[in-house]
Amino acid sequence: AGGDRELLLNGIRDVPDHPKAGVVFKDITPLLADPRAFSVLTDALAAAVTRVGATAVAGLEARGFIIGAPAAVRAGVGFVPVRKAGKLPGETVGESYSLEYGTAEVELQADAIGPGDRVLIIDDVLATGGTAGASVRLIRRTGAEVVGVTVLLELGFLGGRELLLEALDDVPLEAL
Ligand code: PRP
Ligand code: HPA
Repeated sequence: AGGDRELLLNGIRDVPDHPKAGVVFKDITPLLADPRAFSVLTDALAAAVTRVGATAVAGLEARGFIIGAPAAVRAGVGFVPVRKAGKLPGETVGESYSLEYGTAEVELQADAIGPGDRVLIIDDVLATGGTAGASVRLIRRTGAEVVGVTVLLELGFLGGRELLLEALDDVPLEAL
């Protein structure tokens, strides 16, 4: 509904020069602080989980945890954290990527998911697509299937969608 779209848009603010000069950061903390907006977002993400037939949600640290976990619960599927390197205990698999502002590596626990799992990746913002791309590679390496990437916001001018689709062919990508 149009009202829902407004609620989401009103909850996102631009913060110039964060985390460094020249970057206009999309800050979703007002949305998180508004229970009606957060619920609308959770419903929309949970609907995406159901629509693609996902059996698990992979949330990308850190804001993908905040918005992905309630969506997984609401859709009735499990939640798997994709974390920055060095955080997860036990055996992990890792993938490097470059960010709009730096480089990093994401990790997944080796036994978290595997063949037969259908995974929806959830995050707040798709920027260059590096984080989501590395996460798709990670999940595929476990033998699980990536059935989609759903983000709240896509920064179209950074070309993340093109990078993701070119590198990872036909992964369904939806921006709310
Ligand atoms: C942000 C954002 C995405 C990613 C998008 O996270 O939440 O995960 O960057 O950028 P990309 O498409 O260019 O890869 P950030 O790395 O700032 O981590 P944080 O949530 O832990 O602060
Ligand atoms: N907001 C949140 N995460 C981000 C952004 C942004 O503007 N750019 C790259 N990652």
